[in-house]
Amino acid sequence: MAEVEVAPIEELPPGTMRLVPTGAVTIGVYNCDGKLYAIEDRCSHDDGPLCEGEWEPGLCVVVCPRHGSRFDLQTGIPMSLPAFEAVPTYAVSVRSDGVVVMEVPD
Ligand code: FES
Repeated sequence: MAEVEVAPIEELPPGTMRLVPTGAVTIGVYNCDGKLYAIEDRCSHDDGPLCEGEWEPGLCVVVCPRHGSRFDLQTGIPMSLPAFEAVPTYAVSVRSDGVVVMEVPD
């Protein structure tokens, strides 16, 4: 696993999201009411750009902009069709220096 820096936590306040390119994949990092989640920016239904649509900060849910499947940001599990497979999620935390980091496969 490799540690990838996202941003200082002040730049990712509750209700915001940041897209982070990490080489092979782009990952959406969300601050959902103080809880941080990271999910791959690729829908499991048709490989659409999952994180470029709407999300629901109150429910910690992202909505695919292509066909409307809703995904739990914590688990990546779809909550509605047409998607039925989970999207990869990643561990994300705030380092002691205040920088948000996530663990991604090498
Ligand atoms: S590409 Fe996401 S629901 Fe179809």
